[in-house]
Amino acid sequence: GAPVRADVSKLDPGTMMTVAWRGKPVFLVNRTPQMLKEVDKATPMVADPDTKHPFSMPLPKYCQNAYRSRKENPGLLVVVAVCTHLGCTPTQRFQPGPQPNLPSDWPGGFLCPCHGSTYDLAGRVFKDKPAPQNLDVPPFMFESSPTQLVI
Ligand code: FES
Repeated sequence: GAPVRADVSKLDPGTMMTVAWRGKPVFLVNRTPQMLKEVDKATPMVADPDTKHPFSMPLPKYCQNAYRSRKENPGLLVVVAVCTHLGCTPTQRFQPGPQPNLPSDWPGGFLCPCHGSTYDLAGRVFKDKPAPQNLDVPPFMFESSPTQLVI
């Protein structure tokens, strides 16, 4: 398909937007430094921290790092918003801490409304959830600046 362009320069820190790519929703999250700290905190709690599980889309080489993002804009998370269990769209639960349907040590991330799979702020699935794999990271690049995204 044709490449999808998105301008994330006006995306407020700590918020996200959704774009359509190859018929699927893709979340673009402008993670704050605090949210990246929560990713570090989540690492021991996720099933596949380094995304080694063989999955539908290989993790791009430039995203094989702690935050699964490009070094030009490490805060920006780009993930296919399709739960790897049965394909529902997860919802954002960015706020860390206790809240309905989430553990008290919740570090922030996403909750799938269908069967309760949870993902951290890098789209990595938490242990012992129905979803077998992390959310896919599509190949992407930046054009003129690290806020001009091309997927
Ligand atoms: Fe997401 Fe089942 S489709 S948990």
